[in-house]
Amino acid sequence: MKLLGTMEVRDNELYIGGVASTELVKNYGTPLYVIDEKLVRNTCKSYYDAFKVKEGKNRVAYAGKAFLPMEMCRIINEEGLCLDVVSGGELFTAYKAGFPLEKVFFHGNNKSHEEIKLGINLGVGTFVVDNLYEIELIDKYAKEKNVVQNIYFRITPGIEAHTHDYIQTGQIDSKFGFTIDSEALDFAIKTAKEKENIKLIGIHAHIGSQIFDIEPYGDLVRLMFTLAKRIRDEFDIDITDVDLGGGIGVYYTDEDEPKSAQQFCETIVNKAEEIAKELRMEVPRLVIEPGRSVIGNAGSTLYTIGAIKSVLDIRKYVSIDGGMTDNIRPALYNAAYECALANRMNDEEKEVVTVAGKCCESGDILLKDVEINKVNSGDILVVPTTGAYGYSMSNNYNKTPKAAVVSVMDGNTKVMCRRQSYEELIQLEN
Ligand code: LLP
Repeated sequence: MKLLGTMEVRDNELYIGGVASTELVKNYGTPLYVIDEKLVRNTCKSYYDAFKVKEGKNRVAYAGKAFLPMEMCRIINEEGLCLDVVSGGELFTAYKAGFPLEKVFFHGNNKSHEEIKLGINLGVGTFVVDNLYEIELIDKYAKEKNVVQNIYFRITPGIEAHTHDYIQTGQIDSKFGFTIDSEALDFAIKTAKEKENIKLIGIHAHIGSQIFDIEPYGDLVRLMFTLAKRIRDEFDIDITDVDLGGGIGVYYTDEDEPKSAQQFCETIVNKAEEIAKELRMEVPRLVIEPGRSVIGNAGSTLYTIGAIKSVLDIRKYVSIDGGMTDNIRPALYNAAYECALANRMNDEEKEVVTVAGKCCESGDILLKDVEINKVNSGDILVVPTTGAYGYSMSNNYNKTPKAAVVSVMDGNTKVMCRRQSYEELIQLEN
């Protein structure tokens, strides 16, 4: 298992943020998400510096869908980032955490009346508009409040990227946004222009997630700048902002070779300057929306190992006290992770095991055929890189309470989310 962020091994034991895993388990129980706060803050700082946010132009909006407890909103704000939310729930969380709402981008392909009303009443900075229907609603509620709402249009650019592969196609099949250079887009631009309480200032696109290759982003910059220029020429609308979405990949296993935030940002910023020059236009304000690459590596999950079962000549199953309820990614996407025994990091004797979750579902397998130190019931298993889409996609299947989340830094621990109780599990029920 690769040590990430502030992870270190002391006396054969894994420490994160200067805190021993056994200490964390003793104080907070398992399953437990542990957030390496220094790594989160350092990553935010890299994005902030390399994307030239300080210079007052570009913006980095953390994609809250990856992980959004209120404390995360506060960290993001302290580090000078903006926030991308996709639901009334995420918006409400940001509001309650005291996040400045003018720095919020509100996404979603089917925002409800209530969500749009809430966003406008709370003063959300930018709505990323996905469709014609939404234009009408935003205009209506902005009129009621007597404000002019800034909006971006979400564009489907015909670039799709996942990990190392990407394709550029003319054919665009997506539930999101307006197809680039389509009649539907032109009609929407015209419609928005006629609305008194809407101001179209930007265009947005998101081309995928867990992407390692920067090249598709270069192509995206070209497509988006060309579109910005066309909107100015044909509709006399000044597109000042171009949002390139999120998607930057992270390390899960040794098959992954991600770029650093710095490499990624510098390449994009340079490319943007080059392309703007070529197209003879000013470089617009650039926005990116990283989620996974801000929080992914900073989160690890600690579990206690319980039952161990050997199926003769086939496989050894090691069961943990969590699984698809706290990390649905292996079951949903076949996602691969590394793991280790946090209480015995350096033992010599190894074995190959399959780590099973505790749900009543044979697909609840967290890691298949992984090599770890010889395992006993009561050992602590650590699975790194669970910071993104772990807690945020967690669920109560089998009436499993949500696990706790703690952050660690410089030897101190803070509870970000306490463990859900059985009483809380039935709180909504009559
Ligand atoms: N912006 C938009 C409009 C998005 O749709 C997404 C992710 C992001 C930003 C952030 O992307 P990131 O930097 O985190 O890749 N549940 C999946 C990931 C779904 C991503 C959806 N959109 C997973 O666990 O892998």
